[in-house]
Amino acid sequence: MFYHICWGRRPCCFINAERSATLKEKILKLLKDSKNEFVSGQELSERLKVSRTAIWKYINVLKEEGYEIESVSRKGHMLISTPDILNHEEISEYLKTKYIGREIYYFDSINSTNTKAKELAYSIKTEGAVVIAEEQTSGRGRLGRNWSSPNKKGIWMSIILKPQIEPQDAAKITQVAAAAVWKAINQIGVKTQIKWPNDIVFNGKKVCGILTEMSGELNRLNYLVVGIGINANTTISEFPEEIRDMATSLKVETGKEIKRKELIALILNYFEELYNNFTKNRSIASSIKICRENSALIGKDVRLTLRGEEKEVKAMDINEDGELIVQDKDGNISKVISGEVSVRGLYGYV
Ligand code: BTN
Repeated sequence: MFYHICWGRRPCCFINAERSATLKEKILKLLKDSKNEFVSGQELSERLKVSRTAIWKYINVLKEEGYEIESVSRKGHMLISTPDILNHEEISEYLKTKYIGREIYYFDSINSTNTKAKELAYSIKTEGAVVIAEEQTSGRGRLGRNWSSPNKKGIWMSIILKPQIEPQDAAKITQVAAAAVWKAINQIGVKTQIKWPNDIVFNGKKVCGILTEMSGELNRLNYLVVGIGINANTTISEFPEEIRDMATSLKVETGKEIKRKELIALILNYFEELYNNFTKNRSIASSIKICRENSALIGKDVRLTLRGEEKEVKAMDINEDGELIVQDKDGNISKVISGEVSVRGLYGYV
């Protein structure tokens, strides 16, 4: 059974969240199906087998959530516009997945979707549930960094996964996520590059970061949480000053407002396809191909920092296991595992 639970500061939370969400979803669906036409309260109540009072109640809830609905006596209700929000109702019409994103935990505001996903991961039996927030108050990045996540400006989400893989293969998921994000952004007409291991960049600046976290023992993986943060419609002034020279948003670079709900669904659609390849065939070849062909690093001299130690190397390739192949000044070739390493260009971020 798929269900949608909604927590938040605004009134999207009811005592019986599951039932009210279902009725609300059904009303919304009928209004969406009859776009540009009025649907009478009588018709809604007959079709959904609930009282007209209940219909009124949920029409008002939808209005409070930002749905513009024209209500005219003796005509009924007409959906004029939908809000720019990333809840289940708004995303599901674009989703083509079987299990990724079919269960959505949606928040107006939360500390971190990764932190919430880790809390939920123990009680959720299936995989593919997604935690989405409009705003994160303590968004987290790799290597203990902060991740700026202003309200409704980006995509801040975490996917909960339970693959039957060895813990040492967990890092490969970051390449799968990077490839999915690249494909989705490419489909909306923006050609980005992937900066191994976890960034998507545009014009040399970061538009997306991925934070993969896992829980497991030496030889057993309990769960994986793949956190994806995309600066979609952020303006320059909304970035903290200290990252303005290396961060940007899709809107800043293209001059166009990004339709977040379409983009998030595209990411989940591509993620499921690439993740299935990984779990079924034990291969991330399809993702690595995308990461290689669109790499921001391959062929460049870069600076690696690992536990305080810096090294200048040339990035040569990404191997089938998702490791970066580098060559040092003496011609020695080695593999770099993503783990704790930071990669920077010699003269800037890339
Ligand atoms: C990085 O580039 O360092 C990784 C950034 C990851 C940010 C995302 S936003 C959604 C999820 N929740 C978090 O707290 N972090 C990730």
